[in-house]
Amino acid sequence: MPKQVIISKLGGPDVLKYQDYNLPNIIKANDVRIKHSSIGLNYIDTYHRSGIYPLPSDLPVCPGMEAAGEVIDAGSEVVNFQVGDRVAYATPPIGAYCEIRDFPEEKLIVIPEFLENDEVASVLLQGMTVEYLFERLHKIKKGDFILFHAAAGGVGLIACQWAKSIGCRMIGTVSTKEKAALSKENGCEFTINYKEEKVSEKVMEITNNKGVPVVYDGVGQDTFDESIKSLSTRGLMVSFGQSSGMVEKLDMHKIFNPKSLFYTRPSLMSYTLNREELLNCSNKLFEKMKNGDVKSNIYKKFKLNEAEEAHKTLQSRKSSGSIILEP
Ligand SMILES: NC(=O)c1ccc[n+]([C@@H]2O[C@H](COP(=O)([O-])OP(=O)(O)OC[C@H]3O[C@@H](n4cnc5c(N)ncnc54)[C@H](OP(=O)(O)O)[C@@H]3O)[C@@H](O)[C@H]2O)c1
Repeated sequence: MPKQVIISKLGGPDVLKYQDYNLPNIIKANDVRIKHSSIGLNYIDTYHRSGIYPLPSDLPVCPGMEAAGEVIDAGSEVVNFQVGDRVAYATPPIGAYCEIRDFPEEKLIVIPEFLENDEVASVLLQGMTVEYLFERLHKIKKGDFILFHAAAGGVGLIACQWAKSIGCRMIGTVSTKEKAALSKENGCEFTINYKEEKVSEKVMEITNNKGVPVVYDGVGQDTFDESIKSLSTRGLMVSFGQSSGMVEKLDMHKIFNPKSLFYTRPSLMSYTLNREELLNCSNKLFEKMKNGDVKSNIYKKFKLNEAEEAHKTLQSRKSSGSIILEP
């Protein structure tokens, strides 16, 4: 019998349980049956597990949004995929923490020949996120400063490389000197240790008191105030995650009016709304990987039955780059 990880109650990493399960006898007409070889771990999985984000269905639920593998069967109306194809995905429906699953073909991506399955499972969700953040939500440009929090994380190290490839001057925050060194190796021009230094003061020093036109903040609660202080007049606050906790109620007038700031709380799902957007987004990432601008940074591979340990590692801020789970 195949194995999966499920959540039967919301809570800490210890609610992730490894167990046998049954596959449906019949594959839905538009679904493809995939044997996973590599599963991407993302911060959103911890939000689903803890209940910060609502789950799409009642418990028990198999979490996970990203995986790569091989097509082993297909529903009667599947037209674009066949047995043996190497495929990947990074969208709902959740349920990636398992050995084999059925997944809708409209959200499936073909893995390019030049990439290994592990590489794709480690970059697809985080890399597509950087694509929409830097290319579509706000187009970063050569010579511009940007502030990006948690620059040595999974999304962060891809952001460092992407910004460098454009000539954009990224200021990245990190919690240790090792993470600072790694961010710089990946193309981040300036780093700030936000445990030791006041972020806005350093940003003003670097930008000659102008501030940055855009802040990308995936840390949330702990960084929000300093992010706002670091922005230039008419700057854009992109609040795209909350690894330190949710930003609670905002006083809109007090926060955004003095500098006429813009604010957005985007999600990858809203930037990959249909198949065309999904393929444009993933192809842009794959192009960056093909020409060597972006490479995957796998911090550690855990076995699928070590999902609890993997979540603990991610949430304890020990990791840099991406984490994957191996079925
Ligand atoms: N909106 C979207 O479309 C979208 C898509 C993908 C990801 N995201 C968000 O992007 C962020 C990064 O995701 P990721 O998967 O790449 O994770 P990650 O950056 O690898 O891990 C989170 C990092 O946040 C930093 N951090 C700061 N305070 C923390 C705290 N109190 N607890 C835990 N970590 C803390 C840590 O870096 P330091 O040790 O350097 O502080 C940690 O390594 C997450 O908020 C995620 O939800 C959003």
